[in-house]
Amino acid sequence: MTAPELATMAEVGALAAIHAAGFPPGMAWRAGDISGLMEMGGCFVLWWPGDAFIMCRLGGDEAEVLTLATAPPARRQGLAGRLLDAAIEACRGLGAGALFLEVGAGNAAAQALYCAAGFTEVARRPRYYADGTDAIVMTLRLS
Ligand SMILES: CC(C)(COP(=O)(O)OP(=O)(O)OC[C@H]1O[C@@H](n2cnc3c(N)ncnc32)[C@H](O)[C@@H]1OP(=O)(O)O)[C@@H](O)C(=O)NCCC(=O)NCCS
Repeated sequence: MTAPELATMAEVGALAAIHAAGFPPGMAWRAGDISGLMEMGGCFVLWWPGDAFIMCRLGGDEAEVLTLATAPPARRQGLAGRLLDAAIEACRGLGAGALFLEVGAGNAAAQALYCAAGFTEVARRPRYYADGTDAIVMTLRLS
């Protein structure tokens, strides 16, 4: 394993396949959702081809993790952790002072991942997700 790659529009179908495998039906993003976000300024995607990806967006002096997913057969191999580390370094290198994200209140795996990377909870959004669960807003200072 070397370093995650920067994904391009040519990989949108493969990214959607990872998302569909990683999230429950109704929560997964379609290829059009992903390409629409990738076309926005400040957005980048790092991935382990076929296995996992992270999407981030920079705006002003802040950045946001828009999504992160590892396909089930590739989990618990450190792929998401290394994607997150690479995204943190990329955002810092691009001048962001803080990185934000939202995570489901019941998503213990993702919360453990983010806590291990140094993120802390700063807010809660009640019934944020379509299934009625709360979102926890977490942040990591980069500067
Ligand atoms: C959360 C997710 C991205 C983790 O991907 P992964 O590639 O398996 O994660 P890693 O192997 O890099 O794990 C890094 C750390 O995260 C935590 N972690 C990951 N999966 C976990 C689990 N099932 N239970 C508890 N902690 C977990 C652990 O601290 C782990 O470190 P360790 O293996 O040394 O204990 C993956 O489970 C996933 O795609 N879930 C569905 C989509 C999702 O919830 N995305 C995040 C939205 S905010």
